[in-house]
Amino acid sequence: MVTPNSFTVRCDSAAVNDVLVIGGSGLLGQHLLREATTRGYRAQGTYSTEPVPRFLRLDVSDVAAARELVSRVRPGVVVVAAAMTNVDGCESRPDVAERVNAIAPGEIARASKEVGARVVHVSTDYVFDGRSAPSDESTPPKPINAYGRTKLEGERNVLAADSEALVVRTCANFGWNRLRSKENSVTWILRGLRQGKALPLFTDQRVSPSYAPHVARVAFDLLEKEEAGIYHVATKGCLSRFEIGEAVCRAFGLPASLLIPSTLEDAHLVAPRPRLSCLTSRRLERFPNIPVPPFHETLDELRRTE
Ligand SMILES: NC(=O)c1ccc[n+]([C@@H]2O[C@H](COP(=O)([O-])OP(=O)(O)OC[C@H]3O[C@@H](n4cnc5c(N)ncnc54)[C@H](OP(=O)(O)O)[C@@H]3O)[C@@H](O)[C@H]2O)c1
Repeated sequence: MVTPNSFTVRCDSAAVNDVLVIGGSGLLGQHLLREATTRGYRAQGTYSTEPVPRFLRLDVSDVAAARELVSRVRPGVVVVAAAMTNVDGCESRPDVAERVNAIAPGEIARASKEVGARVVHVSTDYVFDGRSAPSDESTPPKPINAYGRTKLEGERNVLAADSEALVVRTCANFGWNRLRSKENSVTWILRGLRQGKALPLFTDQRVSPSYAPHVARVAFDLLEKEEAGIYHVATKGCLSRFEIGEAVCRAFGLPASLLIPSTLEDAHLVAPRPRLSCLTSRRLERFPNIPVPPFHETLDELRRTE
């Protein structure tokens, strides 16, 4: 079901495009919407569960509804930030994960191409098996769980529908979530520490956390440079979840004594997780004006913007 489009911020420039962010209610989606409006685009977001004022409702597992929305709104840019992000949920419901993460993005890209819209698709470090050193854009993907498999299929479907699409792979997304109470890799640690809880953090899973406002800035920089294909967008470095906890304590002046070293095995998770899930971007090195900050710098920005 689609509700009337009212979340448009009009711009004076005649040259700007409309941006439709599918999954605008998510962590990354809301930062993409904010970046779009900051840059003078007219932006429209969608949600799928709890309504967000002035957003359109869209469940992408209804592929026909997703195609219809793109054809009706006729945006200049379609950003696909919607996904089934619950990794264990994808393992238990691979049919739903396939529809949301694999089939829908390809169909949305096809519908976008038909109306002449540029496509930006968001993907994940979980397309890799995490058995070797940090992965760059040329590393062959080899997913080890249903989430990773369906997201990889989604990337391929998008690029098959539109070879000019931009695919942005991120890792352990974090940032302030102003629309949902859902926590992320950093706010979960912050909330727990502030409540005085002991927090088990993996010492055997390494990631390069992606800061949502940074991802949004880079995505629009690349879009405006008319870049296509796969780009990795994450902070510089490769930290264990435990080291992330230590960095959060340093940045926010909280006690590290509450951090408990633990392992993936201790957690008895449904889906296997890649252990070395860090991303580097060879392709961004060509653009000196697109900085890749270290994690601690993004934490400083997070603290300043609370
Ligand atoms: N979370 C991570 O750590 C992480 C890491 C690497 C890559 N990624 C990728 O980054 C992108 C954004 O994720 P995020 O971190 O912003 O996750 P998030 O906060 O969980 O947001 C997910 C978004 O997808 C929407 N959505 C879920 N199922 C949907 C459906 N069936 N139809 C339409 N919309 C649906 C949600 O809508 P509602 O809010 O209405 O439910 C929400 O807007 C995804 O492509 C994800 O695969 C995430």
